[in-house]
Amino acid sequence: MHPAKTQFVKVRREAAEKTKKLLMHNRLMDRQRYVEHSPSYVLFPVVDIENERIKKLLEMVGAELVLHEGIKKEVQQDYHSALRSAISENELKELVRGYDLLGNIAIIEVPKSLQKKKREIAKAILKANRHVETVLEKAGPVSGKYRTRELHYISGKRNYIARYVENGCTMLFDVRKAFFSNRLSYERSRIAALAKDGENVIVMFAGVGPFVLVLAKAHKRSRVTGIELNRSAYGYMKRNIELNKLENAKAVWGDVSKAYRHYIGKADRVIMPLPKSSMHFIKEAVAISKKRAMLHVYAFCRIGKGREMAEEVKKEIRGFGAKASLDFIRVVRPYSAVEEEIVLDFSITKARATAKNRLR
Ligand SMILES: C[S@@+](CC[C@H](N)C(=O)[O-])C[C@H]1O[C@@H](n2cnc3c(N)ncnc32)[C@H](O)[C@@H]1O
Repeated sequence: MHPAKTQFVKVRREAAEKTKKLLMHNRLMDRQRYVEHSPSYVLFPVVDIENERIKKLLEMVGAELVLHEGIKKEVQQDYHSALRSAISENELKELVRGYDLLGNIAIIEVPKSLQKKKREIAKAILKANRHVETVLEKAGPVSGKYRTRELHYISGKRNYIARYVENGCTMLFDVRKAFFSNRLSYERSRIAALAKDGENVIVMFAGVGPFVLVLAKAHKRSRVTGIELNRSAYGYMKRNIELNKLENAKAVWGDVSKAYRHYIGKADRVIMPLPKSSMHFIKEAVAISKKRAMLHVYAFCRIGKGREMAEEVKKEIRGFGAKASLDFIRVVRPYSAVEEEIVLDFSITKARATAKNRLR
């Protein structure tokens, strides 16, 4: 059965900020669905808009109402009503971001102005989600080579091990010691749907294994290998592979810049989920690819500059002796006020190695 379509406001990126303000101000944003981005448009999920004045205002910024399936958030409906009893309407507006739900653990970003109310906010989350046992607070940015962030305990059980289910795969991990983002779940299912059975897939920068697990589960005849540098994340990936009984998956502890040498010419598909520096590992990705392969490159770029980024990556791939054609580009998520994360899918064809472009 297809999920029902609901109303979205579709607007060109240039007018997205204005539209967002208009929707927020009139409390029209549907908080149960994700905002979606394409290189040219932004789709805002909205509650049904009947009001003619609002429709006119939207028209004036060049926005249109469309029906779209959308992606539902794993958030229970009554969080906002639970919050309303703890904080005022104005404070509620400041808490725009909601929270990340990782199974039994919820992670919240509390603005400075609401620090004193964070326990009440956490209690509202616990009240609204019967699966959540612990509420933690983001206490810094994602940083360092392991891409982890500092998290502080706020309320509930003092536990940092998340048990999270995605695309039918159960994952355990310590939220303080390994990177994990549920905002990439759509990407994992998208790539699993693109992949064919029987492929040899290499996931660089595999973390606790979400790409590895989802791909190995969807394609039992494929062989999926995840390479990860962070010892803790690698340990969880290994454990998660066992937990999900995936005999076609393997976790490797190591630095991609060295480990790749064991996989020269082996991969039908290479996944590179390290947006901060995937670009620096194109040599390794081309080296481990078969004569024909698919590369999925995640990268941060300036908002709206995805195509320029794709050209840069293409040039880099060519520099290592392979032809590349861009099959698909998508904005994965906004990253900062000026940057966004994109994914670039390339088909590559390797030329014969010459002395100049030899990769080993
Ligand atoms: C952004 S996280 C992505 C994790 C995972 N793929 C996911 O989607 O949740 C990037 C991961 O790459 C790992 N990493 C960074 N540099 C690496 C390297 N040179 N070799 C292997 N792994 C690396 C980090 O420890 C981190 O776990």
